[in-house]
Amino acid sequence: MANPNHIAFILDGNGRWATRRGLPRNLGHKQGVKAIEKTLIALCELNIPYASFFAFSTDNWKRSEEEVSGLFNLAEEYFEKGVEFFNKYNIKVDFFGDRTPFSKKLQNIMKNVCDKTAQNTGLHAGFCINYGGREDILQAVNNLVSKGEKNITKDMISSNLYTKDYPNPDLVVRTSGEQRISNFMLWQMAYSELYFPKVLWPDFDKKHLIKSLKVFSKRKRRFGGY
Ligand code: IPE
Ligand code: IPE
Ligand code: MG
Repeated sequence: MANPNHIAFILDGNGRWATRRGLPRNLGHKQGVKAIEKTLIALCELNIPYASFFAFSTDNWKRSEEEVSGLFNLAEEYFEKGVEFFNKYNIKVDFFGDRTPFSKKLQNIMKNVCDKTAQNTGLHAGFCINYGGREDILQAVNNLVSKGEKNITKDMISSNLYTKDYPNPDLVVRTSGEQRISNFMLWQMAYSELYFPKVLWPDFDKKHLIKSLKVFSKRKRRFGGY
């Protein structure tokens, strides 16, 4: 089978990567950002059109203040400095999730990176931050209700999701060996192929990506048919 059009990554295992080395969890997240950057380059080299990265879920607020603020500081730093990198690789950046609880500073940084990369024609990279699959469906429905829509169809929901400009993921890769969805793109994943490599996210690199593509190429998708 041809390469996937959209690969969605559930970045998992940053904490364990750090803990195994006797390091604070936030150093695992820092290393996780490096793995995102390496993966972005590999995705460009392999001509994958769309990728998304589940980086912070609506349930991750349950973590310690220290970890959460560390993650958001990392996001500010990465997306502020990242514009040059994204433009170098012709990557168009998008964000999925509710941005309203974020600092004004981060909101401005996010807007800036989207604006500055909007014309790029290579990889579309969607970062899911404060994202939840149920929340996504709910906000889509609420959007439609507030417009006075009554006979809501599947297409109407799809075109009101945060991910409305992306095709549904063909392949979802969750690292670290955990085999669950953890409230990721529930609507969009209805027929996605799932792959759960054991590698922890900070160690994910081009060879793991190529292995994921190989696994995908052997799957037979049926969508309810034969
Ligand atoms: C994934 O790594 C990154 C986020 C959820 C922010 P984790 O932080 O969940 O790492 P583990 O699962 O504790 O190893
Ligand atoms: C899922 O990972 C969310 C992200 C990768 C952002 P978690 O580590 O939060 O998920 P659970 O708690 O193991 O299900
Ligand atoms: Mg985890």
